[in-house]
Amino acid sequence: MQDWPGLIEAYRTWLPVSDSTPVVTLREGATPLIPVPSIAERIGKGVKVYVKYDGLNPTGSFKDRGMTMAISKAKEAGCEAVICASTGNTSAAAAAYARRAGMRAFVLIPDGYVAQGKLAQALVYGAEVLAIRGNFDRALDIVREVSDQYPVTLVNSVNPYRLQGQKTAAFELIDALGDAPDWLCIPMGNAGNITAYWMGFQEYHQAGRSRTLPRMMGFQASGSAPLVNETTVTDPETIATAIRIGNPVNREKAIAARAASNGAFLDVTDAEIIQAYKLLGGEEGVFCEPASAASVAGLLKRKDEVPAGATVVCVLTGNGLKDPDCAINNNDAAFHTDLNPDLGTVAKVMGF
Ligand code: F0G
Repeated sequence: MQDWPGLIEAYRTWLPVSDSTPVVTLREGATPLIPVPSIAERIGKGVKVYVKYDGLNPTGSFKDRGMTMAISKAKEAGCEAVICASTGNTSAAAAAYARRAGMRAFVLIPDGYVAQGKLAQALVYGAEVLAIRGNFDRALDIVREVSDQYPVTLVNSVNPYRLQGQKTAAFELIDALGDAPDWLCIPMGNAGNITAYWMGFQEYHQAGRSRTLPRMMGFQASGSAPLVNETTVTDPETIATAIRIGNPVNREKAIAARAASNGAFLDVTDAEIIQAYKLLGGEEGVFCEPASAASVAGLLKRKDEVPAGATVVCVLTGNGLKDPDCAINNNDAAFHTDLNPDLGTVAKVMGF
């Protein structure tokens, strides 16, 4: 098997890089597309369902796709520091790639609302972490101002190179399936990823690499659903802290992707998210974070509308290990504690 060079080298002709761009990579991309038959069975009608497990990227989320591009271009421009606001995954990816490129990484996070694994990553990757008494939307306002006024490059998804990198996930889907899926189910927070996927699907389609385009099906958590409800949410709340966002910056682009693809937006409750999260872990052996499970929760909620024989891809944006608290508090496992250390006790608990 050939060594995977990372997505910039793999898709170089599709990306705004040149020979003089220093490629900063952790060999991100080429994540597995995994069939999930127990979810397909719940839909029936001969539907095929896959998950694109982007939690297997080097820092455990799809953000690595955007960050390899954003940091490579920042380095090409001679930048020495980057900044982002984050619900956790962007900060982990920004820190890893920036430090690898020899830059300082400043990350603003909502104090108390970033999953443990993500915070641990930002710290280990050597970021300068600033936790604010405010939510993600406020943090994003601040970092936009900082990057306007000081010599620091913004690497949130308002940075166009982020979306360029992230569009490669759509290329990988078409390369694997031989065509676009019929439905693409994806969680939405700041709505950068749905925008990037749609860009990727369109570019491959225009180049004749796919015959069809998918319907873009975007899902948000009910307590944090500004796109579904066409509003701004001042106090977003959800167990899926990654998508706890009330005022998405890519709102217009996401709405355009929905319109052009004949897609739809829908919200899913925290209970529905956790049900899908447990299903993926417990029946398919696929551990994702709660925000990612929103894509599967949304698909199951809309299952009556899936056409017979359709191919559906749900994007699992982040790894389950990111949020161990959620995992420990939301499972149906048999967990027997405080047992006597002897054969009799163990055999009895096992039912023998
Ligand atoms: N899933 C996960 C695991 C995420 O971390 C995010 C966004 C999304 C989905 C939504 O993607 O914003 O492009 O619509 N996380 C950002 C962060 C906000 O700071 O890590 P989006």
